[in-house]
Amino acid sequence: MTVAGGRLRVGVLVSGRGSNLQALLDACARPGYPAEVVVVISDRERAAALDRARAAGVEALVVSPKDFADREAFDLALVRELTARRVGLVCSAGFMRILSSAFTRAFSGRAMNIHPSLLPAFPGLHAQRQALEHGAKVAGATVHFQDEAVDTGPIILQASVPVHPDDTEDTLSARILVEEHRLYPEAVRLFAEGRLSVAGRRVFVKGDR
Ligand code: GRF
Repeated sequence: MTVAGGRLRVGVLVSGRGSNLQALLDACARPGYPAEVVVVISDRERAAALDRARAAGVEALVVSPKDFADREAFDLALVRELTARRVGLVCSAGFMRILSSAFTRAFSGRAMNIHPSLLPAFPGLHAQRQALEHGAKVAGATVHFQDEAVDTGPIILQASVPVHPDDTEDTLSARILVEEHRLYPEAVRLFAEGRLSVAGRRVFVKGDR
């Protein structure tokens, strides 16, 4: 883990709106928070998340898949940019690309993702819509370590919310998002404090009963 000046150096991967990025930036601005976002990388030039990074005085980069021959070359470019900035933890936050083993090998045990469902239910796209269509009574959010597959890595934290009979995809997403914004900074804090250990699929939190 790379900790400079006592704070974990975090890189955030984004593609869009960046509300989870904002939650991380806000957490990092709080006194005593043990991590700092040192770079935000987007695969899309127009991602609103890039503006959020710049507004917080954080370096914002675009790495476009168009500039690379294949997925592996793109992933290796991400690894290069993150490594050059001595990033100790990578957080995908609404990053709409599947990372290959070229990436996950380089950041094994040091990459997280957030997903708007109670995994392993409803992985992949439109998780909230999947929950509604399935008739789930409880939905939620998951922060997990990232592996080569989609939304499958060991689960770090989860939070549940009720599904109401009159919910739409938008109302359910908004309820889940509140929990996402709480969970992600908490997971990063636990990692930065060295309190997470992984045994097989299980993540243990030191200090938790
Ligand atoms: C969030 O719901 C996150 O769980 C999912 O994509 C969405 C990104 O939202 N992976 P934002 O860009 O963080 O606002």
